[in-house]
Parts: sequence; structure tokens; C-alpha cells
Amino acid sequence: MDSSSSVLKRLIWINFLAIQLLPISSELPLNTTNEYLNHKCLVSQGKYKPGSEYETHLNNVIKLLYSGSYRGFYLFGMSNDNAILQCRADSYGTKCHDCFATALAVLRRKCPWYKGMIIWYDQCLLSITSKDTIGQIDYDNNFCMSNAKKLGGDKLAFTRTWKTLMDNLTTLATATRSKDNYTMFAAGETSYKGDMMYGMVQCTYDLPATACKECLVFNSLRFQDCLSDTRGARFVGGTCTFRFEFYPFISKPVLNI
Ligand SMILES: *[C@@H]1O[C@H](CO)[C@@H](O)[C@H](O)[C@H]1NC(C)=O
Ligand SMILES: *[C@@H]1O[C@H](CO)[C@@H](O)[C@H](O)[C@H]1NC(C)=O
Ligand SMILES: *[C@@H]1O[C@H](CO)[C@@H](O)[C@H](O)[C@H]1NC(C)=O
Repeated sequence: MDSSSSVLKRLIWINFLAIQLLPISSELPLNTTNEYLNHKCLVSQGKYKPGSEYETHLNNVIKLLYSGSYRGFYLFGMSNDNAILQCRADSYGTKCHDCFATALAVLRRKCPWYKGMIIWYDQCLLSITSKDTIGQIDYDNNFCMSNAKKLGGDKLAFTRTWKTLMDNLTTLATATRSKDNYTMFAAGETSYKGDMMYGMVQCTYDLPATACKECLVFNSLRFQDCLSDTRGARFVGGTCTFRFEFYPFISKPVLNI
């Protein structure tokens, strides 16, 4: 361990192992772009000063993140500041590293000197905070995006379908959350009126399974209008996300361990 590690009160390094996807028959080309989704400077946590202890800590955390092998989930925590890098389960190795490097560069530009900041991409979430948030649901930093194309037709039946899909995937993701295969991700598919509908759920690995469920249910109720009657939508948050599309959007294999 180098000297930088001595300032860390604790360091948790967890490899994120993903479950095998249900086989997806893909005729459509897969979207492999890593779209920028959103960012948030956590203004209420204030700013740090150049040369401060906070800056030193932050730089150490960033160094550690840079040296990772990018299997998927990293949490670097201290009592009052921590960073989470959560890559999507099919983004590991170079993809996860590239997503992290982009996320960090953009975040530092958009939120200069902020102690707390979060940025979301398709393939990763990078969250840096001056509060101890490990294992806790993030109720504050959530948003929803939906396809402009309306589905039309039976809104209730469609709501029932995405809810069931989300519930099924949540059960799968949380059931496989264990020390053996550090995962909180599941992807799958169902059919809706003859079309294949693809979905995924993911929670940050630090959440307990029950909190993961609660996080997903909370957001699905909050964003119900955004999720219903659309040909693709997702809510994205600091600790959980759900997405569905009418095309496959997860690469396989999910993880080549
Ligand atoms: C890929 O994403 C773009 C928008 O980001 C969407 O217009 C396009 O339909 C997607 N590709 C497929 C195969 O659906
Ligand atoms: C959810 O799981 C049940 C039981 O495995 C299955 O019958 C159902 O088709 C699934 N529904 C969706 C929408 O995934
Ligand atoms: C993950 O771990 C759980 C609990 O130990 C186990 O039931 C499940 O089969 C494992 N999944 C995989 C893909 O290894």
C-alpha cells in the first residue's frame, strides 16, 4: 500500500459480478453509445478550498478509482466522504474505465470545487459526496427520461406489464445479491402485444436487498406518468435505476469472468 492509503479510514473494493443474461435474440443493431444522461452538483454540501484536506482525500480516492480493474462496482469510503463508481453490468474493463474517465472529467468541469456531485451515463454512475451515504437509498437525486414516441392504446395494461417486468427483475437482482456473486443487476425481456420489450434494473451494490427493492418501488411510483404510455423510458437515480425499451440495449455476455 502506498502512503495515500494511510489517509483512508477504510477502503472497500468489491468486484461486481453479474448474472448471466437471459438470451436475447437480437436482430436490431445494438446501441453501443454511452450516452450522457444528467449530472447534479450537490450545492447544499458546499465547496472545498484548493489545498484543503478534502481536496487531498478526493484526489486519493480518484487515484484509487483510476487504478481499478473496472469489473463494475467500486466504493471508496471514508467517514465523511466517499465515491461510488457503479458501471452497468455489461460495462466492465475498458468500457467501465472509459466511462469513469469521461464521467470524472466532465463532472470536475461542470461542478468545480463542489464537495458533492453526481453524474450519470448509460454505462456508469459516478457519485462523490461529503456525507456518509453508504447503504442508504438516495431519495433526492432521481430523474426520469422517456421516449417521445407514445405507445397509444391500453395504458393500464402497459403499466401492468412494465411493473411486472420491473418486479420480476428486482426479485432476480436482489436474490442474487450475495457475497459469492456481488451483483445487483438483472436484465430480461417480455412481450407486449407481440413486441419484445427489454428491461433492466440495477441498484448500487452498497444497498441492502430490501433497500434496493424500496428504491425501485419508490421511483416507479414517483415517475409512473413518465414510464407509462411510451416506447421506452427509464428512471435513473443515485442508488437505483430501471429501464425498458422495445429494442435490446444490454450487450452480452454481461461479464466475462
Ligand atoms: C439507439 O438510440 C437512438 C437514440 O439514442 C435511437 O434513436 C435508436 O432507435 C436506437 N437504436 C435502435 C436499434 O433502436
Ligand atoms: C414475471 O414472472 C412470472 C413468473 O416467472 C412470469 O410468468 C411472467 O411472465 C413475468 N412477467 C414479466 C412481465 O416479466
Ligand atoms: C448468486 O448467489 C446466489 C446466492 O448465493 C445464488 O443463489 C445464485 O445462483 C448465484 N448466481 C450466480 C449467477 O452465480
